[in-house]
Amino acid sequence: MLREDSQVHPNSVLDASGLLTAVGLMRDLERDFLGTSKSWFDEYGDIVYVKTPGFDQVVLRHPDDIHDVLVGRSDIFIKDATYTDPQRGLFKFLGNGLLNSNGSFWKRQRKLTAPALHHRRVAGYFDMMVESTNRMLDGWVGQHTVDVEAAMMHTTLDIVTRSLFNTAIPLDAPRIAGAMDVIQDFVGRQNSPAGLLPEWMNIPALIRESRASGELDEIVYRIIRERRAQGEHDTGDLLSMLLAARDDDGQPMSDVQIRDEIVTMFLAGHETTANTMNWTWVLLAQNPDAERLLHEEIDRVLDGGRRTPTLEDLKAMPYSLQIIKESMRLYPVAFTFSRMPTEDVMLGDVLVKKGTSVVVLSYWTHHDPRWWPNPEAFDPTRFSPENEANQRKYAYLPFGGGPRVCVGNGFAMMEAQLMLVMIASRYRLRLNGPAPEIDPLLTIRVKGDLKMALEARN
Ligand code: HEM
Repeated sequence: MLREDSQVHPNSVLDASGLLTAVGLMRDLERDFLGTSKSWFDEYGDIVYVKTPGFDQVVLRHPDDIHDVLVGRSDIFIKDATYTDPQRGLFKFLGNGLLNSNGSFWKRQRKLTAPALHHRRVAGYFDMMVESTNRMLDGWVGQHTVDVEAAMMHTTLDIVTRSLFNTAIPLDAPRIAGAMDVIQDFVGRQNSPAGLLPEWMNIPALIRESRASGELDEIVYRIIRERRAQGEHDTGDLLSMLLAARDDDGQPMSDVQIRDEIVTMFLAGHETTANTMNWTWVLLAQNPDAERLLHEEIDRVLDGGRRTPTLEDLKAMPYSLQIIKESMRLYPVAFTFSRMPTEDVMLGDVLVKKGTSVVVLSYWTHHDPRWWPNPEAFDPTRFSPENEANQRKYAYLPFGGGPRVCVGNGFAMMEAQLMLVMIASRYRLRLNGPAPEIDPLLTIRVKGDLKMALEARN
């Protein structure tokens, strides 16, 4: 059925099934993923059926179609090869962890994991988050410039490992960051002409990727070994929950499965928040009015910015939260996610065959003037309670939606708001040059590094 406000064209098929056309299309994606996908929507409407040799996908941006996939028909839309394929999917690095698994196995693992990230439990991580952020700020004393990207990445990794695994991994941080870069490049490669080649032909990339997997294995298996050596008592963190879990037959989870869950949490749980923070600093540097309002809120609630915030304080600082939400609208770091139907199904008036990848491009939903007037403008008041109540449902998806919604979203929001408030209490961050460009791979990153000038506030 046609949606009232949707743009469906009579022919929504982008036919790149010939090899040469496909190479051209992959080249365009590699050069400019966002611009290329936008041009598809402009030409073909809200649903685009993209045919490439041996691989079709349906690309979506309309909130109602997204709702159908993530919620309405979540019973038949499962994670597709982007996640589950052992060679070309995230499975290669994250195995069958929570992000990639499907069916009753996923349900069981989600039930097991969710309590560690429940909002009551997350409140218990607050002091740890304050400690990690303070440690980062102590390192900034006397500095005039800071490598924001490295600092955000290091601190979010520290927070996730200390809260969920009760372990500190300062020495491993550069290795984890290196592995993360390799995974990002791997995703970029799948969206480039190289993605059309058989995997075995990409030898240098395969070597790098296998080394990165080895690094992750080494770090994670060591954490598991060390915890086992301490005895399997419940220390209340996610790792002890995973170690203590028993299935219906009383069997513990295998080490491989525990490894997959841990690597998933490591990677899904820090880079996303770090990138959200990076973009937030860029946006604040570009929008002095919003920055001023943030400082006013901080000064009002935190005694001129001199007091460390408590959890209660954060609740009294709605504008800082609106800044994070608006930053995630403009830069939804997890800007695309996908599924496949287990049976033929209609989306709008397009027939999607069983097994076809269906890709939600939330970046373009978030930048669509139908749901977000003047979409490129940074305006945190879009997320004031009154305005939020009038937002189009499923036009805002920084954490996905439906049963597979991000399990760490409460954790991430508290962490991001806290880091924003603590850092902005002490410093203004200024861009040293032009605004950085977007690098959309697995997540939306800042292209190159992000060195910013520090100006002390107090
Ligand atoms: C700003 C920060 C974050 C963003 C933008 C984000 C975004 C997302 C999105 C969009 C999904 C859904 C993917 C899909 O539907 O295929 C997701 C899933 C997930 N996220 Fe996050 N995430 C963030 C932080 C976190 C944190 C802090 C953790 C863990 C501590 C985490 C762990 C996960 C896991 C395990 C899944 C898979 C859940 C499932 O399928 O059951 N994320 N995240």
